[in-house]
This record gives sequence, C-alpha cells and structure tokens, in this order.
Amino acid sequence: MIDSTKSIDDATPLDDTSGLKLPKNQVYTLKDIYEKEAQNIANATIKYLSAPPSKKEASFSYIWMMDLHKEMFGEVWDWAGKLRKIELSIGVKAYLVTEELKKLCDDIEYWDKNKTYDVFETATRIHHKAVQIHPFQNGNGRWSRMLANIYLRQNGKMPVKWQEDSLAKENPKRSEYIQALKEADKGNFESLIKLHRKTY
Ligand SMILES: Nc1ncnc2c1ncn2[C@@H]1O[C@H](COP(=O)(O)OP(=O)(O)OP(=O)(O)O)[C@@H](O)[C@H]1O
Ligand SMILES: [Mg+2]
Repeated sequence: MIDSTKSIDDATPLDDTSGLKLPKNQVYTLKDIYEKEAQNIANATIKYLSAPPSKKEASFSYIWMMDLHKEMFGEVWDWAGKLRKIELSIGVKAYLVTEELKKLCDDIEYWDKNKTYDVFETATRIHHKAVQIHPFQNGNGRWSRMLANIYLRQNGKMPVKWQEDSLAKENPKRSEYIQALKEADKGNFESLIKLHRKTY
C-alpha cells in the first residue's frame, strides 16, 4: 500500500505503484519509496562515478542506456529499464522512443568523434535530449542526470552534485533547473551548461 497524497515532484505523481517490487505487507510513503530508489541509485553511482568509466564500461549505446535505468531502479520497480507504453505530459510519443533514443546514441558518437562541443556542452545536450525523450515511466530526470555525469566523469570532469533531495518541488534550485531545461527546449543551452559546470 502507498500513501499517495504526497507528490514528490510535479512531473509524475506516483499514482501508479503497480510495478513496485517492495514487500506487499507494508505501507510505504512516497518518501520511503524515494529512499529505496536512492539506495538503488547509489549502487550505480559507485559503479560509474567513483572512477572514470572506460568506453567498455559505459558505452552510451542504446542497450547500455536502457540497462543503466535498470541498474538505477531495478530493485524497486519492475518497469525499470523498460520503455514506457503510455503517453506522459513530458516526452515524445511512446512509439517514437526507440527511434529517438537510437538517434541520440548516434549523435553522441558523432559529437564525440568530431568534438562538436566541449565536454560540458556535450553532457548538457545528452542530459536534455534524454529527459526530453522521456523513455521510461519514471526516473527519467535522475537517469538523464546520471547519463550526463557519467559522460563528464568519462571525459575527465567531476560529476555534478545535483543534490537530488534538494530538487524537491519547493526548492528554488529545482525551479532554476526546470527553467534551464525549458530554455534548452528552445535551443538555448547556456543556463543548463552553467549548471553542469557548477562545482558545489
Ligand atoms: N519542460 C521540461 N522539459 C524537459 N524536461 C523536463 C521539463 N519539465 C520537467 N522535466 C524533466 O522531467 C523530470 C521528471 O521526470 P521523471 O519524474 O520521470 O524523473 P525523476 O527522476 O523521477 O524526477 P526528478 O528529476 O525530479 O528526480 C524532471 O526532473 C526534469 O528533469
Ligand atoms: Mg518522477
């Protein structure tokens, strides 16, 4: 059971908990679930961010990107790493997700090879495009920020401390972040790049 009166974020209130893998004989608040997710994500953080991951460890291929979501949420949700089948208020139409994600992989390979952008801008564009596609039912924000951080780490930069908790609804940092994403939607990446350059 779940206390669904409290929403963690404004994008996807957790009204569908059918895929929850936690024991059914307990009542969970959204905070409980968020903490379980954070524990799960911590394993991926250790795996990919404690030392620079090689191209083999983090290939930025389509399959690897999908698996990364599973690594982050697979202990908590049975839809982790699986493409969403439903339409959400953010994201491309569900039937276009595969195509768009594969296009992003090709873009990353091209940007890398041709040094189209500097490392921060490439990480920013990966983050923005990944969350704009919104491949999964939930966790897209955290997954896309992780993707960007892995890219930064792989390319000699330190990961951004997004301070996930402080991205909660009322926090001013969250509105700064969402605002930067909205500007990026319009093709202006500067504010979001600045957030990626920031060292806290
Ligand atoms: N206008 C927008 N354009 C692009 N992305 C957006 C926009 N508004 C919100 N988002 C992104 O969608 C995310 C919410 O998606 P989702 O709930 O799947 O991710 P999450 O990881 O659960 O959330 P969070 O990022 O808050 O931790 C936001 O955090 C943000 O990254
Ligand atoms: Mg969410």
